[in-house]
Amino acid sequence: MSAPDPHEPLKFAYWVPNVSGGLVTSDIEQRTDWGYEYNRKLAVLAEDNGFEYALSQVRYTASYGAAYQHESTGFSLALLLATQRLKVIAAVHPGLWHPGVLAKFIASADVISGGRAAVNVVSGWFKDEFTKLGEPWLEHDERYRRTEEFIRVLKELWTDDHAEFGGDFYRIHDFDIKPKPESRPHPEIFQGGNSTAARKLAGRVSDWYFSNGKDFDGFTEQVEEVTGYAAENDHTVRFGLNGFVIARETESEARDVLREIVAKANVDAVEGFRSAVKQAGKSTSDTKGMWADSEFQDLVQYNDGFRTGLIGTPEQIADRAIEYKRRGANLLLLGFLHYLEDVAHFGSDVLPVIRAKERDLARGAGAPEPATGRV
Ligand SMILES: Cc1cc2nc3c(=O)[nH]c(=O)nc-3n(C[C@H](O)[C@H](O)[C@H](O)COP(=O)(O)O)c2cc1C
Repeated sequence: MSAPDPHEPLKFAYWVPNVSGGLVTSDIEQRTDWGYEYNRKLAVLAEDNGFEYALSQVRYTASYGAAYQHESTGFSLALLLATQRLKVIAAVHPGLWHPGVLAKFIASADVISGGRAAVNVVSGWFKDEFTKLGEPWLEHDERYRRTEEFIRVLKELWTDDHAEFGGDFYRIHDFDIKPKPESRPHPEIFQGGNSTAARKLAGRVSDWYFSNGKDFDGFTEQVEEVTGYAAENDHTVRFGLNGFVIARETESEARDVLREIVAKANVDAVEGFRSAVKQAGKSTSDTKGMWADSEFQDLVQYNDGFRTGLIGTPEQIADRAIEYKRRGANLLLLGFLHYLEDVAHFGSDVLPVIRAKERDLARGAGAPEPATGRV
């Protein structure tokens, strides 16, 4: 397993709350708002507090604790226009988007924003979103086969003036997208999905593999397997890990917040979500993948974010962040309860501790220290 360069600062992304109900399915008070004005302020605050990326979610219809949703690509472009440095990753579904139309949209967004657009290609768990739109719901591994073609088509269209592709799902002939994106070689391609099919996909074509929340061993197991697939394909993949942050002055205060979130969980919504996500890795022959072994508490945070354990004092959170970095994380994808307050607190009280520990780590590795800059 190749650990990331200890001299490269850990990157941070946050989940854009473009879906109502926040990042936890709980009736605990949440001061997070899903609307544009709140999100615009948050994006500016985040780029000033050490966040290099924001990830917009995609949900098309009301469900499981999320009554309202803003569409991810349009919302991402709005956030790009409101910020200076933040890279915004839009979640997109093969099967609902044609890759040629998406390639065109993202190329424009990338040019308009000076090279800050990216995509998170998600293969989907929510069957109703397809069937109720009259679209076929493919079997799990077929969804991933389609996703691989989708990603290959995006790359081809973004980099070739005479794009050609002949696949089972997509056929492109002598197609020329102009303008080409500003990002070189092309906008970054993140991947959401952790099943065996997802891991192999990352090892072949994705720039980034996003892991659901995991403890140390769970994360290491994925890094080793995906890195192995990448090596077989002479491909390089980077790792982002999801985690829900509860930073408080004392560990017991932070744990009390977690207890309250779980105690006030919206049980019907969590159970509905649990039932729907059986369409993910659990539906495959080896049953590996996201939510395959999630318990009730894990599902209260949609992406198992409590498991990463970024809950406690700034010092404790920083220690865990560094350990994940040592185990292969290039990026932490973070969710918060009260975004505006918590992101500012993360930037002022947690990030400096992480950066100081990164400098110690780099010194231990015996080479120049990483940059001290917030981003
Ligand atoms: C970081 C991350 C973000 C995701 N975002 C979305 C999303 O916005 N909308 C969605 O429907 N699925 C999203 N997914 C879920 C994926 O579509 C996929 O269904 C899920 O990862 C299950 O994959 P698996 O079957 O390979 O384990 C996301 C997954 C990850 C890891």
